[in-house]
Amino acid sequence: MSTVHSKAKSAAPENSAPTPNGSGDGLTGGSAPAASGTEHQPRRRVTAEAMAAKQRDISVSEFFAKNRHLLGFDNPRKALLTAVKEAVDNSLDACEEAGIVPEIWAHIETTGVNRFKVGVQDNGPGIVRKQIPLIFGKLLYGSKFHRLRMSRGQQGIGISAAGMYGMLTTGKPVKIVSMTSPKKPAHYFEIQIDTKRNLPEIINGKGDGEDIPSGEKGHKYIVDHGIEWVSHYPDAYRQDEQPRRDHELRSGTRVTIELEGRYVRGRGSVDEYLEQTAIANPHVTIYYIDPDGTETTYARSTTELPREPQEIKPHPYGIELGRLVTMLKDTGAGSMSQFLTTSFSRVSPGVAQRICDTANISTRANPKRIGRQEADALYQAIQNTKISAPATDCISPIGEPLILKGLHHQVPGEFFCAATRPPAVYRGNPFLIEVGLAYGATSSTQKVPLETLTELLAESDARSVRQFLLTTFDGIGAAGAEKILSEAKMGSRQTPSRLEKEEMARLHAASRGSTPR
Ligand SMILES: Nc1ncnc2c1ncn2[C@@H]1O[C@H](COP(=O)(O)OP(=O)(O)O)[C@@H](O)[C@H]1O
Ligand SMILES: [Mg+2]
Repeated sequence: MSTVHSKAKSAAPENSAPTPNGSGDGLTGGSAPAASGTEHQPRRRVTAEAMAAKQRDISVSEFFAKNRHLLGFDNPRKALLTAVKEAVDNSLDACEEAGIVPEIWAHIETTGVNRFKVGVQDNGPGIVRKQIPLIFGKLLYGSKFHRLRMSRGQQGIGISAAGMYGMLTTGKPVKIVSMTSPKKPAHYFEIQIDTKRNLPEIINGKGDGEDIPSGEKGHKYIVDHGIEWVSHYPDAYRQDEQPRRDHELRSGTRVTIELEGRYVRGRGSVDEYLEQTAIANPHVTIYYIDPDGTETTYARSTTELPREPQEIKPHPYGIELGRLVTMLKDTGAGSMSQFLTTSFSRVSPGVAQRICDTANISTRANPKRIGRQEADALYQAIQNTKISAPATDCISPIGEPLILKGLHHQVPGEFFCAATRPPAVYRGNPFLIEVGLAYGATSSTQKVPLETLTELLAESDARSVRQFLLTTFDGIGAAGAEKILSEAKMGSRQTPSRLEKEEMARLHAASRGSTPR
């Protein structure tokens, strides 16, 4: 018994000394005898005063520059996707808020090894001059954070973080063009974030940005100064035959960010994100140019905008105690009854009365004088009072008919269905789930270019081409595989890695043409 005990004791320091990455070596003194630590008092290294001298504020931007994974810039592939997503989300939010049927240009250009220039432009309301530097050059600055209603962005950190990531990885500033009216000059800014102070630094126009004149002069200015801006809607997608002048953009914003990234296709790619964005937003048209120069247009299937979501007040069930205390301190209401009915949704004077009665607080009490214990009682009373669920008009579902329309438009398939659930509430926050499903077509094969197919075939350890097709492409199904094989006039038993060049080309053509759009 005692030997076991002493063995365990002596084993402990040996086991705990090496840390997984070896970083503990310096502290434990490597292989120094385990007992030595207990014999001598370790020498004090620094005093509290010396530590105090090193303690200081951390700037928001410095923090996020070092913790970029928190913002979706964990690796080059994701960084490219996040940058595109932040810009596109903002464009959609801005257009919907302004009541404009959105058109979005997403351009990705290769500028070097693992380097891309991302340009996203919209026909939204534009941004007024003095706000541009703050929006793109200051983290934690935005319009959606303080309100309770559905939108895509809400942290006020999105687009400036993308710009900062670009600046950190390539040293290039963010470029912004914004126009609020065809009659007014547009604004052009080149901006960097001063990460120490979390403030924008305007680089062009002697620190003031540049104004682009309206009309023809402006077109010339843009060309002469090499500014990127799409000034006209493409003709091909117009149904009317009006003269080109009418195809000119009346307002909009373009942001261009150069960044280090990696462009891939398939799952989690920019291509997939844009396609899904088009499906989930049947009212948007997206013109996409990928790094290979391939142009794809996701045309809208409706000009109907989603219903405008209404801003709501917080629901009492969603408020934590600490927040309740702050609200009591900050309120301008003169009585508890007024405080409860004006600060929260779904609290009528009757409900307020019931909450106060349960908490043993007078409805006429001054909210500012509510003590810690009373606040606690109030919090408990809220949880124990029946309060109706919040209004759900702060969310704006797409709706089943439009999901179906979007799916039909963008995804080949044989069977389609969609469901929009009624809104539900979690801790006072309304939410809603919508699902769309397309089934039965060989869509995934259609997107694969010949080079990729060649690579996939070479790498495959599938025993037959048929097996290769089935395991490589999502949802292709046995029938889909057979169809491709017969169209390619190919036996099903051939080994994927031993195909002739010409056979690969046949297989590629067959896989592309196999599903009528
Ligand atoms: N393309 C745009 N058009 C109009 N306004 C925009 C655009 N992009 C950003 N904004 C404005 O800048 C704000 C900050 O954007 P962002 O940093 O992405 O944070 P968030 O989207 O979370 O508010 C937005 O709330 C919006 O008011
Ligand atoms: Mg945003």
